[in-house]
Amino acid sequence: LVIVLDFGGQYNQLVARRVRECNVYCEIYSYRIDIEKIKEMNPKGIILTGGPNSCYEADSPTYTKELFELGIPVLGLCYGAQLMMHVLGGKVTKAEVREYGKTEVLIDKKDSKVFEGVEDATTCWMSHFDYIAQVAPGFEITAHTADCPVAAAENAEKKLYAIQFHPEVLHTVRGKEMLYNFVRGVCECSGDWKMDAFVENAVADIRTKVGDGKVLLALSGGVDSSVAAGLLSRAIGKQLTCVFVDHGLLRKNEGDEVEAVFGPEGNFDLNFIRVNAQERYYNKLAGVTEPEQKRKIIGEEFIRVFEEEAKKIGAVDFLAQGTIYPDVVESGLGGESAVIKSHHNVGGLPDYVDFKEIIEPLRDLFKDEVRKVGLELGIPEDLVFRQPFPGPGLGIRIIGEVTAEKVRIVQDADAIYREEIANAGLAREVNQYFAALTNMRSVGVMGDERTYDYAVALRAVKTIDFMTAEAAEIPFEVLQKVMSRIINEVKGVNRVFYDLTSKPPGTIEFE
Ligand code: XMP
Repeated sequence: LVIVLDFGGQYNQLVARRVRECNVYCEIYSYRIDIEKIKEMNPKGIILTGGPNSCYEADSPTYTKELFELGIPVLGLCYGAQLMMHVLGGKVTKAEVREYGKTEVLIDKKDSKVFEGVEDATTCWMSHFDYIAQVAPGFEITAHTADCPVAAAENAEKKLYAIQFHPEVLHTVRGKEMLYNFVRGVCECSGDWKMDAFVENAVADIRTKVGDGKVLLALSGGVDSSVAAGLLSRAIGKQLTCVFVDHGLLRKNEGDEVEAVFGPEGNFDLNFIRVNAQERYYNKLAGVTEPEQKRKIIGEEFIRVFEEEAKKIGAVDFLAQGTIYPDVVESGLGGESAVIKSHHNVGGLPDYVDFKEIIEPLRDLFKDEVRKVGLELGIPEDLVFRQPFPGPGLGIRIIGEVTAEKVRIVQDADAIYREEIANAGLAREVNQYFAALTNMRSVGVMGDERTYDYAVALRAVKTIDFMTAEAAEIPFEVLQKVMSRIINEVKGVNRVFYDLTSKPPGTIEFE
């Protein structure tokens, strides 16, 4: 076990993630945790994170000096490095210029254990106002940059290491190696921890927390809620009830696929309730064309349906949510760190369900880690590697009024598109792709007859963060095949467009 002490930096979970990537188990705790608790846990190493404060100010987060006297290796990063120096008698002050961004760092101590295998000059990611003006007694400077005399320092004998930059950020080219050197080298962690151990730990934690209580989960069929369902099922079996609302705006056969995995015929031990609310949604959406109003109706209707089901079940002890770490950061709920923006997937239901506590078993994981857990739990690959699908579903991929007929058209066109993308081996290369139904009808000719039918738009984007995106370069033959299949196989369509728009100015979805 390695403990990450959170001092409010933005990259804290990234630190934890990098440690996990070294196959070492780690847990994050607030800097407010009592030293006695740390002693009880007896970690093999401790990492102090960055944070927004100045360690020499009276009310800034700090930690008792005793931490550095336990004989446990400590690595301080950014604020953590400054705090280590400050507490142990070095000097930290405000720098004249803020150092921010990619910076060349020069390694002064070639045989430093944390820089083993790292070149003498390498690129690091800096982000600080304060700097270490003088190291604490017993420390030597092990690296510097043009603006920062102490980019790293250490007291090798006491196994205390301070790094001013951020090795956890990918811009620090050899950052992974540095963290590896610390946890696997200095701390001598064996590196036998894997995702199956996460599952084991999480299952044990859930059992302790839930006891013989009842848990309710809204299962959407997306990756996160599915993995949460799998994990909870493994931990508590039928104490878990999953409510899956089929709003009739899912992709083709998707409702049945979710039911096949989690329903009574599937491999998971839980209570599965499928609510077929298709008609209800179509009635509510009849005649509505304004995008935001459509979104609102779909969202509110979900709450209504869920609320009705929850009432039937009665009071539960826990409401489970598939919140994952990126949702937590974006909402500013991440431990000690500051608010960035609120997130649509966090919150929402709690007001409408009678429960005592929220349980979020995936809260510390990144998406790719959630997928690994999913595979570990035996959730089928096509579900685990599913591309993002918006909550309002096809409702925002049908421009204008939503009708059952239009849903059928877009479902069929989308299924063909997905099949051909998979056949072309592009499924994991393109980050998101789908068919949408434009509200445009135009004249065509088919078998000597005039047609007046809808146009389908194909969308495919390459993106890392879904905040910006480029249209993917799908080979023309693939697009042509999709076009010809859609027009031949999907009644009501006589034209197919490919959307070339990047984001911005477009969005990925159509509404
Ligand atoms: P846009 O259209 O905003 O989409 O470029 C960016 C990403 O977010 C997804 N998306 C949503 N996901 N609820 C969700 O859970 C929503 O209301 C929603 N709207 C968009 C979209 O699929 C894309 O991946």
